[in-house]
Amino acid sequence: MKITTTIDDSKIMKKIAIFASGNGSNCENIIKHFSQSEVARVVLVVTNNPSAKVIERAKRLDTDISIVPKDSISDSSIMLPLLREKCIDLIVLAGFMLYIPSFLIDNYPHRIVNIHPSLLPKYGGKGMYGMHVHEAVKENNEKESGITIHFVNNEYDRGEIIAQYSTPVSPDDSAEEIAEKVHKLEYAHYPSIIEKIIREEA
Ligand code: GAR
Repeated sequence: MKITTTIDDSKIMKKIAIFASGNGSNCENIIKHFSQSEVARVVLVVTNNPSAKVIERAKRLDTDISIVPKDSISDSSIMLPLLREKCIDLIVLAGFMLYIPSFLIDNYPHRIVNIHPSLLPKYGGKGMYGMHVHEAVKENNEKESGITIHFVNNEYDRGEIIAQYSTPVSPDDSAEEIAEKVHKLEYAHYPSIIEKIIREEA
């Protein structure tokens, strides 16, 4: 007699939490990507900012969202139960502007990923985020910029680099135009790199 087993997808799918503080266009792109994936789903969005546009985006995409004030983000008795309740396997930062506390790094070793809108180590570190990065790239007449996807450690933008992609910058580009080029790279590569990390770990 042939015995067939049914595999329940919901049990083998990895679960992603996205942390985002603002607009959330990367968050939306990642949620959409994984809604079609066989390896993972975004099951939670965490934001520290009650007026962030990401809240509307997550709601529209039927994804649970937790608004967690800054002080509570650094409180392990709040964050760990929140993530454990959702059985989170991977934390993805997408425009998350707060420091990641060390208890999260200890509990999710090599399982917290960030995207930074420059070719690190250039234009990284405290205070270098969002438009500040693109303005500095413009000011220094750089001929290229790009994105860095990296694991998160205890130092701002210094974790192990997973992937980098570049785009040319012309002297005529405004900081906004550089931002647009960089965002295009983010949308094209961040979801697939996250998927690659998950597939390689499985
Ligand atoms: C993205 O460009 C991301 O790389 C950057 O914030 C933007 C968020 O855009 N992150 C950092 O600067 C982190 N240091 P989004 O909210 O539309 O996804």
